Amino acid sequence: MPPELPVISSPNNPDLSVSMGKFSLKNPVVAASGTFGYGLEFTPFVDLNQLGGFCTKGLSLEPRLGNPVPRVAESGEGMLNAIGLENVGLEKFAAEKLPRIAQYSCAVICNFFGNTVEEYVRMAEALSAHERVDALEMNISCPNVKEGGHQFSSDPRLVEEVVGAARKAAAKFLIVKLSPNVTDITETARAAEAAGADALSLTNTHVGMVMDIETRAPYLANITGGLSGPAIKPISLQMVYHTARAVKVPLFGVGGIRTAEDALEYLMAGARAVQVGTANFFDPGVTLKIVQGMKTWCRDNGVRSISELYPL
Ligand SMILES: Cc1cc2nc3c(=O)[nH]c(=O)nc-3n(C[C@H](O)[C@H](O)[C@H](O)COP(=O)(O)O)c2cc1C
Repeated sequence: MPPELPVISSPNNPDLSVSMGKFSLKNPVVAASGTFGYGLEFTPFVDLNQLGGFCTKGLSLEPRLGNPVPRVAESGEGMLNAIGLENVGLEKFAAEKLPRIAQYSCAVICNFFGNTVEEYVRMAEALSAHERVDALEMNISCPNVKEGGHQFSSDPRLVEEVVGAARKAAAKFLIVKLSPNVTDITETARAAEAAGADALSLTNTHVGMVMDIETRAPYLANITGGLSGPAIKPISLQMVYHTARAVKVPLFGVGGIRTAEDALEYLMAGARAVQVGTANFFDPGVTLKIVQGMKTWCRDNGVRSISELYPL
């Protein structure tokens, strides 16, 4: 990242910067993976230099076309998606996207996934070789093809195995993104921390479905999809609250954030920063509105530094 002038905080200019040891953000607002493309698609709407950072669409060793359509459905205060991790693949990302991303000063977090432990290791190693990649975010809500399709994220033993292996290969700040589709998320959180995660993001989407009453069949070709958007906020928020008290590593709060107030709730529950996903689809400029709204709230409430809000 290019060097930045230090922030001088004052009652009129609250310091929103976030420090997570060897990783820092100019403010706590990060765009969530899969909802912000490779960052570049949002430059007509958002000055990326003013954002805390963004997570890329989930990357894999080979390009992927994703699932057959229909793969997106609206559902009340949320949406369901079964995109199937469509992405351009590691090689094209490094050759075509990263050099263009490099001109922006926000944090670049590369989200990645694999079908086996070995694939996660290869991705962590390959992405770490790029200077402009500031952090890695491991999406472990993926089936382990060598263990009968059991999702890595669903079993603390698998979490420890895949995170431990990727940790050894990753030369960057390593964030592990947890699935909420478990009985007790603090167990998988503890496993990821024990295996060497530098931070955790909670949560990924919640499994759900929509029935088509015309065809009397599931609407999504994949049958189920991941529920995201405002509908999931209270559920993901309580997971952040409990996990913040179960582990020592910093957390990114993710799920249903669309306003500065939503983001502040996550920080007050114990998250160090937040990620904004589905809201980008109904307002592509929402991330910077949240940054501005946080600044105004801090000013109005005499808060000089966002770190004053952390409860722990
Ligand atoms: C269309 C879509 C695609 C997504 N793709 C990814 C992905 O590639 N990797 C990942 O870790 N999370 C992915 N997610 C999950 C989001 O990053 C986020 O965790 C989730 O949507 C909850 O946040 P939200 O309610 O603000 O959307 C995706 C979500 C949506 C809606």
